[in-house]
Amino acid sequence: MKNNVTVVILAAGLGTRMKSKKAKVLHEAGGDTLLNHVIRAALPLAPAEKIVAVIGYQEEEVRRSVKTPGVRFAVQEEQKGTGHAVACTKDLVEASGQLLILNGDGPLIKTPTLETFLGSGGQSGIAGGVVTTEVRDPTGYGRIVRTGDGRIAAIVEQKAASPEQLAIREINTGVYWFDSALFWQHIGEIHPNSQSGEYYLTDIVEILRRQGHSIAPRLVADETELLGINTRVELAVADRILRQRKTEALMLAGVTIEKPETVTVDPDVEVGQDTVIEAHVELRGATRIGAECRIGTGSIFRDCEVADGVQILPYVVADRAKIAHSALVGPFSRLRPKSVVGEHCHIGNYVELKNTTMEDRSKANHLAYLGDAIIGEATNVGAGTIICNYDGVHKHPTRIADHVFVGSNSTLVAPVTVGSGSYIAAGSVITSDVARDALALGRARQTDKPGWAKKRREERKKE
Ligand code: UD1
Ligand code: CA
Repeated sequence: MKNNVTVVILAAGLGTRMKSKKAKVLHEAGGDTLLNHVIRAALPLAPAEKIVAVIGYQEEEVRRSVKTPGVRFAVQEEQKGTGHAVACTKDLVEASGQLLILNGDGPLIKTPTLETFLGSGGQSGIAGGVVTTEVRDPTGYGRIVRTGDGRIAAIVEQKAASPEQLAIREINTGVYWFDSALFWQHIGEIHPNSQSGEYYLTDIVEILRRQGHSIAPRLVADETELLGINTRVELAVADRILRQRKTEALMLAGVTIEKPETVTVDPDVEVGQDTVIEAHVELRGATRIGAECRIGTGSIFRDCEVADGVQILPYVVADRAKIAHSALVGPFSRLRPKSVVGEHCHIGNYVELKNTTMEDRSKANHLAYLGDAIIGEATNVGAGTIICNYDGVHKHPTRIADHVFVGSNSTLVAPVTVGSGSYIAAGSVITSDVARDALALGRARQTDKPGWAKKRREERKKE
């Protein structure tokens, strides 16, 4: 049976209690949207083509937000309830096997839990299952009414529950599996709820039971896994749990994390063994960090590739940059998109790179802006060097070759090429190409006026 699972994820609602213009499943926790987390948990159980998300509110945005190729979508034009939402997938799902239904607003569910849950599908006479949990305050949830033999008699929604049923603390988490054939045979028997007019998916439980089929509850003790997000307060709780899961997984895989509760790592980030991540670091997007690196406190990396043995000193902000092994970056450096830092390079404080490649063993240790440039090997970029890459209309390239010495406070007006082994005198404004091995001086000659200062002081005294 395991090989024949179809997954339906309910994600068509707005989520009124979020008080947002954005569909609930588009809100982010733990570095991804709620819907992507649910898909991530379901993917090991079924190929993407057999995962169907029911969308409606902001359907285009929700469709675009899904990262996994192959996932399919069923559009529920009007939100007429969870039962109606599943019915909308009829043409996209298989009529046999197991149908796993998940709520799009339950991002904390884990794959192993779902795996064990689906495992009960082999037992004879069982037509489905519901994941349940006991909560201290069951307000708002559907209550699980059990039969004498421990199966589920019905799921009763808050509004329809009797006082005795309201006291039940075992609740429906919104995770179900059903025998597909039976499910589709009987789904038409769900009638709109008399109070709300909605088709409740939960009604299928009683319908199947009346036909003589059993629905088995699966009580899961870890309540955190089953939290449904309805408000931004719950969103923050989910965020904390997801962040903690990620840092714990990294630590168990051999990464040292100082003050992990302050560190933010997105779910797809990879970090190699024996790397040390200091407090307050953020590793975002598809960032990959190699082994034996150190990431200094307060650093923020998004979609970066960092090789082994790289030292990042505190407060480096990097976006779509590549850093080769044994490079040293920071403190307070900024690497903007398409920056490449070669092996053993040093990028120091208040140095900004944008679309610039620094080849191996080159250095820019202090206060520089290097934009749209290729800088060769073992070149030294002095303090205060500025590449003027922008003329107000266009961006222009700069090429600085190997073994160049760029004196402090130089200005290179692009487009310009600086030949290998050349030397630029401090304070130069370089507007034309520098030949190989040349000395370029681009500044006014200094003139000294002997005695001028002393004379001025004396005149002041007389006043
Ligand atoms: C539902 C269950 C309740 C359970 C709870 C767990 C029903 C009738 N009730 O209640 O027993 O305890 O989840 O969190 O199912 N959706 C659609 N289309 C619709 C309506 C909803 O796609 O027409 C989606 C929503 O976007 C959401 C999910 O279904 O992702 C659940 O809907 P929601 O309105 O939050 O259901 P609850 O009232 O929480
Ligand atoms: Ca809900």
